[in-house]
Amino acid sequence: MAKIKQKARLPYETEPGTIHSEKTLNTLRYEDVFYTHSVGRVLEVDRQSNHRIRFTTQGDVRLQVEVWGDNMIRFFLAYGREAADFSYARDPEFGPQPAHIVCRQEAEGYFIETASLEVRVDLVDAAVSITDRATGVEVHRYASPFYARTTLMKGLDQMRLQLKTATGESFFGLGDKAWDTDLSGRCFENWNSDSFGYGRERDALYRTVPFYYGLRKGHAYGIFLDNTYRTHFDFNSNKDGLTTLWADGGVFDYYFINGPQLDQVASRYARLTGGPELPPLWALGYHQCRWSYFPERRLKEVAATFREKEIPCDALYLDIDYMDEYRCFTWDKKHFPNPKRMISELREAGFHTVVMIDPGIRVDEDYPVYTSGAEQDVFCRRSTGEQMVGPVWPPECVWPDYTNPRVRDWWGQLYRELYVDQGVSGFWNDMNEPAMFKVNALTFPPDVRHDYDGLTGDHRKAHNIYGMQMARATHEGLRKLQPEKRPFLLARANFSGGQRYASLWTGDNIASWEHLELANRQCLRMAISGYSFVGTDIGGFVDDPSPELLTRWLQLAVFHPLMRIHSMGNNTDGASETETAQVQEAEATNRQDQEPWVHGGKHTAHNRRAIELRYKLLPYLYTAFERHIATGIPVLRNLFFYDQTDEQCLKYGDQFMAGEDLLVCPVTAPNLKSMTVYLPRGQWYSYWSGKTFTGGRTLRVRIRPDRLPIFVRAGAIVPTLDVVQSTAEIASLETLHLTVFLDATGSGSLYWDAGEGYGYRQEQYLRCSYVVNYDGSTVTLEQSAEGEFTPNLRRTSIRLVGLDRAPTRVEADGKALTDAPRYHQQSAYFTVPFDFRKVVLR
Ligand code: NOJ
Repeated sequence: MAKIKQKARLPYETEPGTIHSEKTLNTLRYEDVFYTHSVGRVLEVDRQSNHRIRFTTQGDVRLQVEVWGDNMIRFFLAYGREAADFSYARDPEFGPQPAHIVCRQEAEGYFIETASLEVRVDLVDAAVSITDRATGVEVHRYASPFYARTTLMKGLDQMRLQLKTATGESFFGLGDKAWDTDLSGRCFENWNSDSFGYGRERDALYRTVPFYYGLRKGHAYGIFLDNTYRTHFDFNSNKDGLTTLWADGGVFDYYFINGPQLDQVASRYARLTGGPELPPLWALGYHQCRWSYFPERRLKEVAATFREKEIPCDALYLDIDYMDEYRCFTWDKKHFPNPKRMISELREAGFHTVVMIDPGIRVDEDYPVYTSGAEQDVFCRRSTGEQMVGPVWPPECVWPDYTNPRVRDWWGQLYRELYVDQGVSGFWNDMNEPAMFKVNALTFPPDVRHDYDGLTGDHRKAHNIYGMQMARATHEGLRKLQPEKRPFLLARANFSGGQRYASLWTGDNIASWEHLELANRQCLRMAISGYSFVGTDIGGFVDDPSPELLTRWLQLAVFHPLMRIHSMGNNTDGASETETAQVQEAEATNRQDQEPWVHGGKHTAHNRRAIELRYKLLPYLYTAFERHIATGIPVLRNLFFYDQTDEQCLKYGDQFMAGEDLLVCPVTAPNLKSMTVYLPRGQWYSYWSGKTFTGGRTLRVRIRPDRLPIFVRAGAIVPTLDVVQSTAEIASLETLHLTVFLDATGSGSLYWDAGEGYGYRQEQYLRCSYVVNYDGSTVTLEQSAEGEFTPNLRRTSIRLVGLDRAPTRVEADGKALTDAPRYHQQSAYFTVPFDFRKVVLR
């Protein structure tokens, strides 16, 4: 046990250290007394299994190194008694992968070599360094020995790892941060927090993803700290060349994930923490929400207006006011007298109904959810044994302890009536940080007890996974209630791995241009942090967007996997008095609604056009989603994922790739007539005009009010469909559109299935792979198909973009087409049977 030394106070030292010595102990008293515990000299190395090596050291901290693959190393640093190897974040299906492992001991170090990495553990202080064997780049090095801190009053309160930062190293990821793309130079905290009206400076936000990417000397790696306590990540904020990670308790269980490509890190992290299920196709359609649509008449009016104005829409949401005085799983019968009928009428018109469910359960002896929960002892208790009672929407609530498997089962079956009997399609779990009103902490006191799947713990340990376990309980419940249906769940608070259970939105943002920019950044950051199914409150939750802001936001959200307008209407959220006053003021000045037609005229036309583009691109997005699940490569990626060696890509941090081929340039300022975009190296096409551009340079583009600048990688083949008013109409479409953006060679694919259910797991899917070759005079386009799903599609209407001259002849599977191809501005248009094998165009 080493005494703490007096030194300049660092940010991870939450309180000044206090010197403890025998002499002063009897005379002086302190707020608390701290002890530091470092890993000491390695006394013994025990290779416990092929992949696990345990180091016994002089100090009180143990180090265990596990090889989880040639590119993934796990470090388990524990203080005190034997710690359980348990994780909510890890995909239960994933474990150590076969790897080539060679170990050797030298005078000063113990070496573990895999096919890609060399790990060195220093025998003097157990400090670790890792080198990529192929490039020789050192990608991980302790700057000081690992350290744990205990205090007399709190017990273990800090586990700290300090790493060397390389000059010019950049950091990305870390989930929910409304901050610049590169995280360098700043310290972040992870603690799920209800963040009404958050701004750029606010940290922490709603969810915790303690995973980041480092990019040093062109080499990417990732660090995932699997610790559910409050954690802190300091990326060289003192400019002292240090990256410091610390947790307020628990075990320091972290994974080093090697690249060298960013995509490889993303996909390895996705294997470790799992991916989402394929969503029902309707969930990728457009969603309309507001706090709150009621009564039934208003909801129907909104539905009818969508159809009347021919603006596609698939889902309508009911926020908290559909409930009977905020009692979850009930209806306000005055406003919704017959929910089953209403939901089925909406379904007939092509709308899915999504309803909100909160974790705070009203204390009420006449409310069966409360009484059955109390009877079955499902609610969280304080350290005294009393129920944890506090205010959220109802003044007195109790909260289920979702970290208990028995409670998760109880919770899951509560959805039966809404989901099975009444036909609600999807659910929205809110306030699950868990949020609590009236207290500055915004959440439970730390003494609240949790089952933690039998390991037990207090709220400090369970806070960050509370929302995740609620989402899990909901997801698992829905899967059990209707095993044939793909669940749709939108959840607010979450933790690494929670992408397996729910999609997310970025919470209570503001209708401002700055927030539009942040919205995009947050979605990109969440996507590269394992959550591809993300979206924002389009137009802003707080305040009203200008017509132009709403349009630009919709245009951007076409590419965000969850596309949903949501606004707070004239409500207060039980937050501070100032915030409430702001909302009341907005109401007084005639607050507007936030449906796509709200600004009328040309604005409605622009908004319609954006939503129509979303529906056209559904096959492309669905395919990208399926690829994400198969490979772990995010649906949305910052431009620098496309070319991590190009610094310009980093500079244009808001541009992104949606799927593999589309490069989207968001417009994040008003009244722009033109803007500068960056095209990475390679050949590009304008999605709109088909004009070609050579990349590796900036480009000044003209901005139109009705669309964003979008570019396509040369060689891409993009599948689209005709516009429908809801995905329910897709099954009857007969034509698939393929746009081939010619290069010497190119490829693309279409993944398609019933859009619902799990038939795709039994071969009921279709994967069409396309390969194109162009030698300057002849184009050959070949299709191969896999899977047993037969769609209704009969023909493929092809557009070949980038031809040098009009073609004279097109053959499909050896037969000349009867209709000559149309040729216009370097593009040829023609139609072939959907199941064509080979098209030749001369
Ligand atoms: C907070 C959520 O973030 C917001 O989306 C919702 O409208 C309100 N709670 C009311 O339920």
